[in-house]
Amino acid sequence: MEISRNITKAIELLENDELVAIPTETVYGLAGNIYSESAIDKIFAMKNRPFFNPLIVHLAEGSLLKEIVEEIPYQAQILSDKLWPGPLTLVLPKKETVPNKITAGKSTVAVRVPDHSLTRELLNRLKFPLAAPSANTFGNISPTTPSHVKKYFEGTLKMVLDGGECKRGIESTIVSFENAKPVVLRLGSISLETIESLIGEVALLNKNEKNPSAPGMLARHYAPKTLTFLVDDVKSFIRNRTEKRIGLLLFKTTLDEPSVAYQETLSFKGDFEEASSKLYAALHRLDEQSLDIIVCERLPNKDLGKSINDRLNRATKE
Ligand code: TXA
Ligand code: MG
Repeated sequence: MEISRNITKAIELLENDELVAIPTETVYGLAGNIYSESAIDKIFAMKNRPFFNPLIVHLAEGSLLKEIVEEIPYQAQILSDKLWPGPLTLVLPKKETVPNKITAGKSTVAVRVPDHSLTRELLNRLKFPLAAPSANTFGNISPTTPSHVKKYFEGTLKMVLDGGECKRGIESTIVSFENAKPVVLRLGSISLETIESLIGEVALLNKNEKNPSAPGMLARHYAPKTLTFLVDDVKSFIRNRTEKRIGLLLFKTTLDEPSVAYQETLSFKGDFEEASSKLYAALHRLDEQSLDIIVCERLPNKDLGKSINDRLNRATKE
């Protein structure tokens, strides 16, 4: 596996129906040409992704949106004008030319313009958009560094375009406009509060929704291999546990207890953006410590704290 900044090599691979892991501001994506059936098949196969889970189309710029979607409701236009490039994905009625494999047969397509200089240069130089799910195997912790990608795809993937650490750290926020009404399908790096400040009140898809229209919203996802819990009061929770090697994921403090073998603090300043940028890397490290259990602290449930809690909630579901 090549891990480098060689855009020319990435272009050559992508033009030949191969996949390349690409950096974005949120997480690394496993990218392929949206018009190449064999590249799209490889994405599903390599990720072990269920066929019913549609992919996000990544564009070089917002002006290309009209080539992919049939219509742009005015609220979607406002969001894309204000937040692109950035971690916002819009779900809109697709043009017929968008392959059905990308959208898992749905009449809508998910689209975003990622905010990462290397990947924008790549997209600008390609003649086609890229489909890119997060570059992890299905259900596991998302990758925010090239070495996370390597852990999942060493031996099966030819190249990771090395854009360093992802600065936002959790996936894009997905807003759907089915029936022209905005609905947040997945919380993410843009807070609900930011979206509502731009277009007014939006609905949030029920958390326990089993509907596979947004499998990022499946109950269990983003999960470590170690048994993981999410609690409000970490100290009293671990005092009632008998495990000898406990790992902690704390928001802004540390905890000194004999059973704590390893701990991670997301932001000593208590800053949500810093916490979200560190979330997945901390979970990856925790999962590598041979711990008996991992205990995560629930964050204040507002702004990005809500998005982080959403991920932790899914990471801890059986
Ligand atoms: O930040 C991100 O969005 C990252 C980076 C790589 O761009 N990508 C990402 O992709 O998170 P993925 O495949 O892990 O998640 C895509 C989510 C899934 O939950 C999928 O169900 C939903 O988008 N989705 C895609 N197309 C959809 C559609 N037409 N209708 C509803 N949901 C859709
Ligand atoms: Mg994913």
